[in-house]
Amino acid sequence: MAEMNYRTALVTGASSGLGRGLALWLAKRGVRVFAAGRRLPQLQALRDEAQAAGVTVEPVELDVTKADATLERIRALDAEAGGLDLVVANAGVGGTTNAKRLPWERVRGIIDTNVTGAAATLSAVLPQMVERKRGHLVGVSSLAGFRGLAGHAAYSASKAFLSTFMESLRVDLRDTGVRVTCIYPGFVKSELTATNNFPMPFLMETHDAVELMGKGIVRGDAEVSFPWQLAVPTRMAKVLPNPLFDAAARRLR
Ligand SMILES: NC(=O)c1ccc[n+]([C@@H]2O[C@H](COP(=O)([O-])OP(=O)(O)OC[C@H]3O[C@@H](n4cnc5c(N)ncnc54)[C@H](OP(=O)(O)O)[C@@H]3O)[C@@H](O)[C@H]2O)c1
Repeated sequence: MAEMNYRTALVTGASSGLGRGLALWLAKRGVRVFAAGRRLPQLQALRDEAQAAGVTVEPVELDVTKADATLERIRALDAEAGGLDLVVANAGVGGTTNAKRLPWERVRGIIDTNVTGAAATLSAVLPQMVERKRGHLVGVSSLAGFRGLAGHAAYSASKAFLSTFMESLRVDLRDTGVRVTCIYPGFVKSELTATNNFPMPFLMETHDAVELMGKGIVRGDAEVSFPWQLAVPTRMAKVLPNPLFDAAARRLR
């Protein structure tokens, strides 16, 4: 399959972790990158780091939970950039939501960001991409979205939404010239995992995960999942009968 060529890209959640790494990875390959997030100082530091390396990253202050404003801002960027070639919905929040105390504010925050925010990001310029017969939409889901993990009802479900959303988009957009990629990371070092107080098997370095994401995106893969040691059993768990899954999930909890 031919590799994709991008002039412009938007990466949300680029102020830290995977998004920051991916923004820089793309910029170093000649892409004009708009790096979005709420924390402007971190985005400005990223811009300065890119500038020092002789490449372009432009900070965009954006809170994806404000869905209507997100749509408007991304459409304005699309017009300003002469068409976004690549949109990466990476912004996301984690956190546990133990079902015995299900904290609504946290559940809502996860849905607002990971579901509504991601869908708004991906919807913003989709019709324009179809009209141009060119573009690539990427959603950063999670291996946690394959089954409902213990203590993570909101997070697991938010990522299940995103991966199913990406799958339908992929089916619908076949033959339009617009590519769709869904990324399923396992555990990767970042601010999101820094506070996890449970074992994280096969925890990856951020730069290794970014490299796999970048290469998979450029190849135009439909799905990118890593590390394989966690991706293979997680995908197999999808077909595990409930009693077996429940017993395993309880043990992992
Ligand atoms: N690390 C892992 O092990 C792992 C595994 C599977 C999936 N993922 C997914 O990978 C993505 C990136 O996570 P990460 O691990 O790199 O974590 P991270 O370092 O915490 O990065 C999350 C990014 O999302 C942004 N963000 C959060 N809420 C936002 C909002 N309302 N509006 C705009 N941006 C927002 C944050 O920026 P601001 O705070 O500046 O807004 C930050 O840049 C997430 O979708 C996460 O679910 C991560």
